[in-house]
Amino acid sequence: MKIIEVHGVSKSYGGVKANTDISIDVEQGGITGLIGPNGSGKTTLFNSIVGYHPVDSGSIKFEGKEISKMLVQDIARLGLLRTFQQTRIYGDMNCVENMLISMPHRKMTLWESFTTNTRADHDRAEQLLDFVGLYEKRFLRSGSLSFGQQKLLEFAMALMNEPTVLLLDEPTAGVDIDLRRQLWDYVRELNEGGVTVILTTHYLEEAEEMCDRIAIINHGAVIADEPKSALMGRLDSKTVTIVPAVPLTGVPAAIAARGEVTAEVVQGGALAITYSRSNASLGTLLDLARDSGIEIRDVTTSEASLEGVFLDLIHDSDG
Ligand SMILES: Nc1ncnc2c1ncn2[C@@H]1O[C@H](COP(=O)(O)OP(=O)(O)OP(=O)(O)O)[C@@H](O)[C@H]1O
Ligand SMILES: [Mg+2]
Repeated sequence: MKIIEVHGVSKSYGGVKANTDISIDVEQGGITGLIGPNGSGKTTLFNSIVGYHPVDSGSIKFEGKEISKMLVQDIARLGLLRTFQQTRIYGDMNCVENMLISMPHRKMTLWESFTTNTRADHDRAEQLLDFVGLYEKRFLRSGSLSFGQQKLLEFAMALMNEPTVLLLDEPTAGVDIDLRRQLWDYVRELNEGGVTVILTTHYLEEAEEMCDRIAIINHGAVIADEPKSALMGRLDSKTVTIVPAVPLTGVPAAIAARGEVTAEVVQGGALAITYSRSNASLGTLLDLARDSGIEIRDVTTSEASLEGVFLDLIHDSDG
């Protein structure tokens, strides 16, 4: 089932077209990655989806219901929550207090949030702080937390609202690799519990690791939106580097003559052959090298990575 349907959405800021005719469907239960260069319009799209600003045109549906004209808190009440690229916590309040005021759909004013939160709300805040490893720090001024810990706090704050869809805007930007992996685990755990996740990231290995579907946005327009496996499969080319016992000074003639591959001598006199998996195999290339008199000492291959596909698509769309 499609839980979010974005259709033909455009949004400009003055003369800047931040999003142009964006259409993206999000399947319930998945983890979708929204990736694209700086300024390509990812945060703008998140803002449009959660009702942070009105869109110029187009339709946004959540569970089949049009939400593009709804207010942030009403959309949050439906279970559609986001975290901010720039964390938004109150530095002078402690972690529990930040958790409690992050329930705008229940507590309409800041004052009410302090005066009317229940024991259950408090317990939930502590449970979630425990979930993200901040229990020990729950009564500390949140401004004293490290940057990474503040990201964890913001993530936990979004969970106070019991989201069915969680939009994470660069949840791991500037976070060290251990903490990043921890966040990945938390996101996976939530997802396994039924929360649909959409995340933006500049760490392409994060999108590759976490997402089952990836949309790429460039200059405000969607240039790819497909299952990760299909996207990765687009990059057909592979490179094998053959390290010979005796460094090469030139590409052997028999290999240079093969039109379907490109070969060059690289550092250390090794031979790098780039080929397309659909018309050459590694075995054939190694046989060809041996037949050319190369005594093979070592072989390394480079796999298709999301980074390769991403750069190809971005460069193609830039023209
Ligand atoms: N409030 C605003 N006022 C004016 N222009 C804006 C505003 N917000 C975004 N823009 C412009 O819209 C475009 C898209 O910005 P957006 O923040 O959506 O990009 P992004 O993909 O999230 O980038 P990044 O990866 O750097 O976070 C940019 O050209 C940006 O300068
Ligand atoms: Mg952004």
